[in-house]
Amino acid sequence: MKKILIINGPNLNLLGTREPEIYGKFTLTDLENKLKDFAKKINIEIECFQSNHEGEIVDKIGSAKNNFNGIIINPAAYTHTSVALRDAISSVQIPTIEVHISNIYSREEFRHNSFIAPVALGQISGLGIDGYLLALEYFSK
Ligand code: DQA
Repeated sequence: MKKILIINGPNLNLLGTREPEIYGKFTLTDLENKLKDFAKKINIEIECFQSNHEGEIVDKIGSAKNNFNGIIINPAAYTHTSVALRDAISSVQIPTIEVHISNIYSREEFRHNSFIAPVALGQISGLGIDGYLLALEYFSK
């Protein structure tokens, strides 16, 4: 059975109350439960991880080597700042899909640059919570 690691970055623990007009009303627990239900249906094992700390996310990616077939990551604000996250992803060589709930290209200019995109397999941006589900479905193939 394929194993996929799902990582949510800083402030995504606040989903549901954080700018709901941009990010929706579902909580992180709602999101993770939805992903777990869908994963069961498509016969994939998942592990969900959220952290507000860059180093913890770097450690998690580093420890994923040889343990996961794929990573789905919403790096949140670190998308636009973190060379460390980018290097972690390219170091482990695990196919990684970058997901954003909002469309980062239709928002402020500082969100248009992703340090992660060049080392990701692909990026899904602006499809809300469905982006995570679509990424998971991709890995089921
Ligand atoms: C986000 C977009 C980022 O620009 C922002 O910093 C986030 C969430 C998204 O899911 O739309 O925290 O990654």
